[in-house]
Parts: sequence; C-alpha cells; structure tokens
Amino acid sequence: MLSYQHAYHAGNPADLHKHLVLAELLALLTRKARGISYMETHAGRGRYDLSAPESLKTGEAAEGIEAITLPDSPLATALQTTRARFGEAAYPGSPLIAQTLLREQDRLHLMELHPAEFGALRRALRTEHTSVHHRDGYEGILSLSPPKPRKGLVLVDPSYEVKTEYEQVAEFTHKLMAKWPEATVMIWYPILAEGRHAELISGLKLNFTRHEVGFNLKDGEGMTGSGLLLVNAPYGSADILKRVPAMTGNLISKI
Ligand SMILES: C[S@@+](CC[C@H](N)C(=O)[O-])C[C@H]1O[C@@H](n2cnc3c(N)ncnc32)[C@H](O)[C@@H]1O
Repeated sequence: MLSYQHAYHAGNPADLHKHLVLAELLALLTRKARGISYMETHAGRGRYDLSAPESLKTGEAAEGIEAITLPDSPLATALQTTRARFGEAAYPGSPLIAQTLLREQDRLHLMELHPAEFGALRRALRTEHTSVHHRDGYEGILSLSPPKPRKGLVLVDPSYEVKTEYEQVAEFTHKLMAKWPEATVMIWYPILAEGRHAELISGLKLNFTRHEVGFNLKDGEGMTGSGLLLVNAPYGSADILKRVPAMTGNLISKI
C-alpha cells in the first residue's frame, strides 16, 4: 500500500522535530575530515512546495515551519539554501537537507518505493555522491550495508500506514546492527492515541536514546507528538536534544 504522500505534511511540527535533529547530527558527524555515509530507508520526494494545494489543504506547515523563525542552525542553513534556489515556498525534505550539509567526501544512498515520489526525488537532487534507488527501503539499505565510508547515519522514516511497520522497524534495526554495528540510526515515529509506538520501543533489544515532543496545536486531534530513537547516538547528541524545543520557540515541547 503506497497511498501516503508527505506533501500533505511537509514542514509540520513533526518534520521540524525530525529535521532539526537530523541536521544537527549531520553537522556533528561531519566535524572531522573523514567522510561519512548517509542512508535513508524512506526518502520521500526531497523537496516540497508549501504553496501547493496539498500543503494548503491540511495547513500543517502553517502550524510548523511557517509559524516560527529558525535560529542560526544547520537546518536554517539548509532552508535558506533551498529557498535561495527554489523560492520562498520551498521546504527541504530530509534528502535535500543532507545533500546541502554533506561534503565532497561523503556519500548518500536514498530509497523510495513510490514511483512518482521516486521520480520527483531524482529531479530534486544533484547526482554527485548520491545514489537514489527505486526500491524497498528495508531491503535496499540492508543490501548496501556496511557501506564505505563506514562511519555514518541511517534515517528510518516510514509512514506507519501499515500497523505492523512498528515491529518491522525494530526487526530491521536488529538486522542492520548485525551488518553495520557502528552505524548511527535515527528512527522517527508518530505519537498517536493508540500508542502503537510502544511495540517499536519494546521490540528494540538494544541501547538507544529516546526523545519525544508534544505539539502545541489548536486542534489536539490526530498526531499529538513525535518521537525519535537514536542508536549509537554520537557524543554531543544529548545537548542537541535538549536545545530542540527552544529552537522552535517552544512550538514543540519535551514530554
Ligand atoms: C514520511 S515519508 C518520508 C519523508 C522524508 N524522510 C522527509 O523527512 O523528508 C515516507 C516515504 O516512504 C515511502 N515508502 C513507503 N514504503 C516504502 C518502502 N517500503 N520503501 C521505501 N520507501 C517507502 C513513501 O512513498 C513516502 O514517500
């Protein structure tokens, strides 16, 4: 089933949580000259237009990125670079954030299964140092792991349309760690009334850091918060996680 389209949700408070932490982690991992590998299981279309009907229909960006001014930060750099190239309504998805922040010596491997999203992703990114795959993200990342360079980060960002995906993410992470034990893994999950993310958290039989935020929205229905799990979190991540709510003007708050 591939009915989920991130264009309806781009730039919402959950994206802010995920993208702020992602951009900061990439900045941390690229402090030294040695190259890194950056991989994504679920890449999406790479770049979003916040003036598109999908975005205006839900109004989620209006309650997220459009409601705040980002302080000087790696995400602000990626946003400014994207807007300078593509106009003021553009918003970078995780692949474009990574491509903006990564260097000559780094490598990107991105998986996207939806044919139209995959096509848009290919068009949104430069080709240097980047491979874009029309492929199942779990299978694709496992088959490429461990990559070269061996230092690196994997973002796991499914839509959780299929409820078994919470368990699937835990199972995938164990397989990934068996193949590439030193990888930093960042898993995103929604916080919904049913609380299914508990299956993911109890299913993960390894050490991880958990960071959850709640949203201060007018309509408290639907997704009320956003969670991140970090495996092999690099030194310095704790400070990043602490700073995130303030960076959003407390639009999101730690829970
Ligand atoms: C939440 S969106 C990704 C958003 C993106 N990571 C970002 O932050 O900009 C999830 C994406 O996963 C894609 N997808 C769903 N199942 C997939 C699978 N098994 N393998 C790869 N991509 C998949 C969907 O088409 C969708 O574009």
